[in-house]
Parts: sequence; C-alpha cells; structure tokens
Amino acid sequence: MNNIKYDFGMVGLGTMGSNLLLNMSDHGFSVIGYDKNPAQIKKLEEAGGNKPTVKGVDTAEKMVSALKHPRIIMMLVPAGKPVDSVISDLLPFLSKGDIIIDGGNSHYIDTLTRIKTLNDAGIHFMGIGISGGEDGARNGPSIMPGGDKTAYGYMAPILEAISAKVNGEPCVAYLGLGAAGHYVKMVHNGIEYAIMQSISECYDILKNGLHLNNDELSQVFQEWNKGELKSFLLEITALIFKKKDDSSQGFLVDKILDKAGAKGTGQWTSESGLDLPMPIPTIDSAVMMRTISSRKDERIKLHQIYRYEPKKIEANKDEFIKELKDAFYFTMMISYIQGLAIIEQASSELNMNIPLHDVVKVWRGGCIIRSEMLPLFMDVFKSDVKNVLENNAIKTKLLEKLPAIKSVISKAVNANFPPVAMMSSLGYFNSIVREKLPTNLIQAQRDFFGAHTYQRNDKEGIFHTIWETVL
Ligand code: 6PG
Repeated sequence: MNNIKYDFGMVGLGTMGSNLLLNMSDHGFSVIGYDKNPAQIKKLEEAGGNKPTVKGVDTAEKMVSALKHPRIIMMLVPAGKPVDSVISDLLPFLSKGDIIIDGGNSHYIDTLTRIKTLNDAGIHFMGIGISGGEDGARNGPSIMPGGDKTAYGYMAPILEAISAKVNGEPCVAYLGLGAAGHYVKMVHNGIEYAIMQSISECYDILKNGLHLNNDELSQVFQEWNKGELKSFLLEITALIFKKKDDSSQGFLVDKILDKAGAKGTGQWTSESGLDLPMPIPTIDSAVMMRTISSRKDERIKLHQIYRYEPKKIEANKDEFIKELKDAFYFTMMISYIQGLAIIEQASSELNMNIPLHDVVKVWRGGCIIRSEMLPLFMDVFKSDVKNVLENNAIKTKLLEKLPAIKSVISKAVNANFPPVAMMSSLGYFNSIVREKLPTNLIQAQRDFFGAHTYQRNDKEGIFHTIWETVL
C-alpha cells in the first residue's frame, strides 16, 4: 500500500461504483474502492490506468485507513439488508465526524432510521440519489443529496465536479434535511415510471392503432424529441426502434417479452402518496400497468375468452400524430406536477425543507427524466408559488394541450386501447381544477350506512342525519 491519503472511498465496485470513482479521478480526486471480488478491483485499477490515485482494496479496514479525515465513503450496494451489512462492516474502523453516503435507491424510511442510529455513534449518514445509469456515473450524473448540511460541505466540491452540467451549472445541490435526497430520488423514479408508461401508450396507439412500422415509430419519436418535448426518454425510445436483433431476423424490441420489471421505487412513491395523502394518479397508474403487464399468463388466458383486440384508429394519420404528441405533452407535464406536489407535501410533513427550485435544477441534466420542460418548472419556483398549477405559464400550456388529450383518449378508448396514464392525467386535471365534486353524495352515503357525519356548505359544524326516515 502507498502513503496516499485518498479523497473518497467507495464500497461496491460494480459498474456504477467504478464509473463514479473514475469520473472523480478525471476531476483530480484520489479515490479508493473496496470490493470483496478481486476481479472488480483489477478492473477498476486497469480502467484508472493503474495509477496510485485510483486504488482498489479487498477489506473495509484497508480502505478506511487510507482515507483523509473526515472520511467520505459512499456505498453503492443493493437497497435493504446489504446496506446495513456494509455499515456494520465499516463501523469498527470509523471515527466521529466521518461520513457514510448511501448512493443507492434505498427507501427513505430506512434512511431516516440509519441517520438516527449512526448519529448516535457520531457518524454522519447521507442519503444521496444518483441518476443517469452507467453512462451518467462515468460522464456526469444528476445527484440528489440530503442530510446534514455541514457534512454535505465536505463532499460538495467532489460532487459538483463530477455531476452533469447545464449551462455550466452543476446538476447537484443540497436538497434538504434527513432523507430528502432519497425521497427526491424516489419521486424522480415515480415520474420516470409515469413518463415511460405514457410513451409506451403512444407506442401502442401508433403501432396498433395507426399501424406504423418500427422505422416510422423511430421517426415519430425522433421528431417529438425536438423543441419543447426534447428529453432523454424520447431520445432513447427513437433509438430503440432502430435496433436490429442479433440472434434472429427483425427488430429487438419486437422480441422483448411484454412483462415490465420494477425494483420498488415507483411503488414506494405511490405508497407515500397514499400515506401523506397526496394524489399522484398518473404515477399510480404507471405502477399499476407494470403489475398488469407482469400477469402475462392471466392476460393470455383472458384474451382467449374475451377476444378483445385494439382496432385501427380511423383518423387522419398526420393530424392524429400531432394530437398524440400534445396528449403526451399534457401527461408528461402532469407527471412532473404530481411529482413536485408530493415532494412539497412530504417536505413539510417530514420537515425536510426541500428547495423545489433546486430539485428541478438538479433534474435538468444527467438524470433519466431530464427534459426541455424542466426549465419551465424552474421559472415557476423562482417565485414562492407552492402549487405549480397556479402558475400562468403552466396553465397556458395545459389549456393549450387539453383539446388534444381529450380527443386522443376518446379515439383510443373507442378503439379498445388502455391509455391509463393519459386518462389518469386528464381525470386528475378535470377534478383538481373543479370547485365542486360529487363527493357530497359519498359523504351522504357514509353518513347513511355508518353515521360517519358530514359538513355542510351553508353552515359550520359536524352533522349526522337519520337517513332511514326516507324509507
Ligand atoms: C436512474 C434510474 C435508476 C434505475 C431505476 C429503475 O435514475 O438512473 O431511475 O435508478 O434504472 O431504479 O427502476 P425499475 O427497475 O424499478 O424500473
């Protein structure tokens, strides 16, 4: 071992962990990684050009003793038990004031517990969301840190150097207290689910309603990925339709089984929405559609019974594609609105003090949900408006796209399509901007069968009625 005191330590030298270290090394920081697997250590050191400032070791002790004080150590291991086991592995070698970062997609409640336990031992624990996949980690991710602000100060120069940049500004900022970083990353993923679901609904309608082939699909998404809809997810979608299959004739996308996986962050976002409560139906519908898609055997069986198929959509092709683009815009905008609303609500419930302006700033580059729509949201949070829907620019955009989403949904539903993210977005909009809803009837029903009481719109108080008298 050499005598270098390293700037940053990493536990877990998988692709993400190694790429982040190599990114740091490119920016002049000395880095050391710990992994039990010698092959991963070798890979990191080779990729780092075998220079002493990019080092791999096989025990926690070796890594910890080679770090500068306070030690900054990131874990990039799967959420759940592995995180706790790495913490136990590190703890005997740490000193008061050292900082452990969980850079994975951990549940924010677990992060809160770990902050408390480690604080008692004098160790700072930071939950940091990192988005952008392998390429982002290597060349500039979006980073969502939360936790102790003083501890953040120690790592800020490193994170700012390695993050993605938009107009020269780093896509990292201190996002609040406690588990703020992991909460924001969880909701980032919830929005990711909603936008992906919405794109897949457009794909379904374009392919099975307008009978576009893969070349045409690629062209449509490429076209959409310009101007106001420019986004990472549309960009990769256009590329996916070009990819030929290596092992057979045709395109790879057509060979992929239609069962969507999920690691939990979307579901956690929905659960948090129910707990707070805060309505996020577009995100909920995206989570639900992944579950429906995973029930492939049941779908096959039911299809044989119902013989229910999507039909051709009878409409002018070019005009309909334009409408669909606007319907997608509406759904994407509502996805961001719901995501930001739940962050705002959770921030005040859990005293996280999350700066929404900075959340949007961090999301503008490097992350999976980056898009040209986000600068619009940054402008919203320049004023201290809490409810995005009150903003004039957002209102103008939603009203501009409203006729299109109504038209698309009615045509798609009539042709047997299930555009649930679009329907949820429209249903949310149609309800949230309405002064009166039919829930007076629900209150009457609750009071009728359960004496649950109700409030009146003409006088103060809590009321109960003996409804049976009308029988
Ligand atoms: C990112 C991604 C990343 C990961 C998701 C996938 O921001 O880089 O969100 O975190 O790809 O966890 O989640 P699912 O497996 O649940 O789709």
